[in-house]
Amino acid sequence: MMLLFHAIVLGLLLPIWAFCYWILPYFTTYKHLRHLPGPFLGKFSNLWLALGARNGQKYGRVVRVGFNHVSIATPEGLRVVYAHGNGFLKDIFYNAFISGVPGLFNVRDRAEHTRKRKIVAHAFSPGAVHDFEPYMSANLQRWVNQLDRIAATPGKDGYARLNIMPWCTFIAFDIIGDLAFGAPFGMVSRGRDECESARPGEPATYVPGAETLNRRGEVCSTLGLLPALRPWAKHLPDPFFSKGLRSVKNLHGIAAAAVTKRLENTEGTQSGIPQRRDILEMLCRSKDADGHAMQRDELVSETLTQLIAGSDTVSNTACAVIYWILHGERQSPGTIVPRLQAELDEAIAANSSISTHGEVKNLQFLRLCIDEAMRLHSTSAIGLPRIVTAKSGVFCENEHFPEGTVLSVPSYTLHHTSDIWGPDVEEFRPERWLNATPRQKMSFNPFSFGPRACVGQNVAHMELALIIGTAFHRYDFRLYQQKLESHEGFSKKPVECWVGIKLRHVEA
Ligand code: HEM
Repeated sequence: MMLLFHAIVLGLLLPIWAFCYWILPYFTTYKHLRHLPGPFLGKFSNLWLALGARNGQKYGRVVRVGFNHVSIATPEGLRVVYAHGNGFLKDIFYNAFISGVPGLFNVRDRAEHTRKRKIVAHAFSPGAVHDFEPYMSANLQRWVNQLDRIAATPGKDGYARLNIMPWCTFIAFDIIGDLAFGAPFGMVSRGRDECESARPGEPATYVPGAETLNRRGEVCSTLGLLPALRPWAKHLPDPFFSKGLRSVKNLHGIAAAAVTKRLENTEGTQSGIPQRRDILEMLCRSKDADGHAMQRDELVSETLTQLIAGSDTVSNTACAVIYWILHGERQSPGTIVPRLQAELDEAIAANSSISTHGEVKNLQFLRLCIDEAMRLHSTSAIGLPRIVTAKSGVFCENEHFPEGTVLSVPSYTLHHTSDIWGPDVEEFRPERWLNATPRQKMSFNPFSFGPRACVGQNVAHMELALIIGTAFHRYDFRLYQQKLESHEGFSKKPVECWVGIKLRHVEA
């Protein structure tokens, strides 16, 4: 019966649907974009983007990548599309990311975004972020204990071999779990991708958190680009959709469980349970301009937003930074790792197993390495789609884009353009940042730009400085792979990163 249903959907409805959504609009609605170069599929649909083929560089700087979506890979594009006060809105693409009520990341309405952003920005003020350090340190200490254990059984070359990517995932998830949900997921301690999930009234179950998050990201991105598929998605035979949609539910369950626990504990606070100073606490306490606190369903959405926005972004970036530092050292031996370790050794006591934020936050070479690796890897690589809302449209790069056109600027392409960075654009050269031109600084876009830029960038920099600073202070590394292959989704995820580690300082 199900098979018959799927056959009818695929055989009959899809061609009609394709005609209505793709072919008809091409001839009737989007004539103004026809002269722009781009992939053939992009002229009719968003399929080219949905299939993950995101590199349109060969077509030029202004490329039609979807039926009404134009990619502008220039610094000027960044200013026009993302800056404050330009009247753009996040595209309907983001609706596919909503589960429950909209959160800060996926809310599209401007006034509602401003209300939420004021509340959430409070949780990321410099004072609040400073209070997060004890939670980060406790997780970092557990991470180092695990890496020490691995380092204790070296191979023939004196280094213990491991894939550092999952370990970056475990530490990033545990930190954001601790900050946003009130307790680490325990991934570092278990050395496994495992989180507790419980929907209200149901017993707790264990789900692979990182895998669930990736699945959710992939299915939401695909349905965001092909919104007409959304009502059908759960009936489609491809398990990509059914498993992805289950992941959306599971993640909601993880967030709901955490908020319930915290609200119960908050009641207990009056009876003497010590109060935490984490993101969830800040969100529970913050009020909007009218003095209203967030309701439970909004709290669930906002904590979920922090988990999604603050976990694999950090883990993917941390892994990429480790890879690029080691790759840079392999290309120019003696120029990267010894310099970084000398700087770390001067700042951190030899017998400290982890660094403090005070020790690493102002280290110049560490920051140069992180920025250069963020440029080369570009965790947020794709163009983040914004819709033109001005009645008169906008002009950019000598083109006019009418109201309703979707525009985006692909960060990866901007970060890899030799016109901007010079002929050594593909090389890891941290010192390039010492003489960066205004155009280069403008083009560096790891956290996006304008009112929808990353609200958690202070937390991200704090985590990266602590993780990378601690890792290179405590261990010597070897790189066992030639290239860093990545999986292209909403965020660019290293597939694996095989390294060797060895303790540098023998403790007294
Ligand atoms: C290296 C790590 C990170 C990178 C590369 C990154 C990058 C980004 C980017 C590019 C955006 C814009 C997304 C869009 O417009 O669709 C964004 C938004 C956001 N990020 Fe991050 N992020 C990182 C870490 C974090 C952390 C640690 C948190 C929270 C603890 C966080 C919370 C958010 C939130 C809530 C938004 C939505 C902001 C809004 O729309 O007002 N991010 N991030």
